[in-house]
Amino acid sequence: MQTQLRPFTFAGHTLFRVDFDPATLHPADLFWLAHHAQITRFAPRRQAEHLAGRIAAAAALRHAGSDSPAPGIGAHREPLWPQGFCGSITHTAGVAIAVAVKRDNATQGIGIDRETLLDERSAPDIAEGALHAGERERLRQTSLPYPVAVTLAFSAKESLFKALFPQVKTRFGFECAQIVALAGHQLQLRLTQPLAPFPRGAVFTAHWQPEQNALITLVRL
Ligand SMILES: CC(C)(COP(=O)(O)OP(=O)(O)OC[C@H]1O[C@@H](n2cnc3c(N)ncnc32)[C@H](O)[C@@H]1OP(=O)(O)O)[C@@H](O)C(=O)NCCC(=O)NCCS
Repeated sequence: MQTQLRPFTFAGHTLFRVDFDPATLHPADLFWLAHHAQITRFAPRRQAEHLAGRIAAAAALRHAGSDSPAPGIGAHREPLWPQGFCGSITHTAGVAIAVAVKRDNATQGIGIDRETLLDERSAPDIAEGALHAGERERLRQTSLPYPVAVTLAFSAKESLFKALFPQVKTRFGFECAQIVALAGHQLQLRLTQPLAPFPRGAVFTAHWQPEQNALITLVRL
């Protein structure tokens, strides 16, 4: 598969971005993955984005000081990072991004998400499904165009989910966290219920940056 890998810095972390062309995927490319047998039933486009994500993840792990191969796939679809490391993967339309860091007192988990910007028509539906009424009101009061604000809130919740999941170990919905502040390139999310080991009311910061037609969010625990 044709890919182009490049690192970039975001919120104090080095992220690895892989631009890829799914049409150039060759079935033999998948043998690079130790878990290739698990993805033979995926549609080719899905195989391509998965592979691109793992190429980015392997580069991120090397950068973080691990010589482990690309992470395998967990029971809940989560990437299986090597002992002592945490990380996160996202992919959208020809772009995959990954980050990996050593787990220590400063970093217990990390989540990233990249979303294509919603438009005026799709934003209300996504907002209805992913945001409380109070959050929608808060987003309408920001200086961001409403579809951008909704994309941002949605993406921040996905990043939070990915960061928390390795410790919470069970899926949880969008109602479990609420956007409580949004200023500059940061927003705060508060848990509306306990997600063991995290108590109700725990607050997390999401960082974000815009891209052409998309945005990226990152939550570090
Ligand atoms: C899992 C989920 C967050 C993935 O996000 P997405 O926007 O669909 O897709 P992205 O491209 O950004 O991310 C996909 C990658 O996320 C990673 N991922 C999937 N499940 C995961 C989990 N349980 N924990 C951590 N990472 C996970 C995988 O690496 C996946 O890529 P892969 O399947 O090729 O390995 C999303 O599908 C989901 O289930 N969301 C509902 C849960 C949620 O967000 N709740 C909000 C809580 S406030």
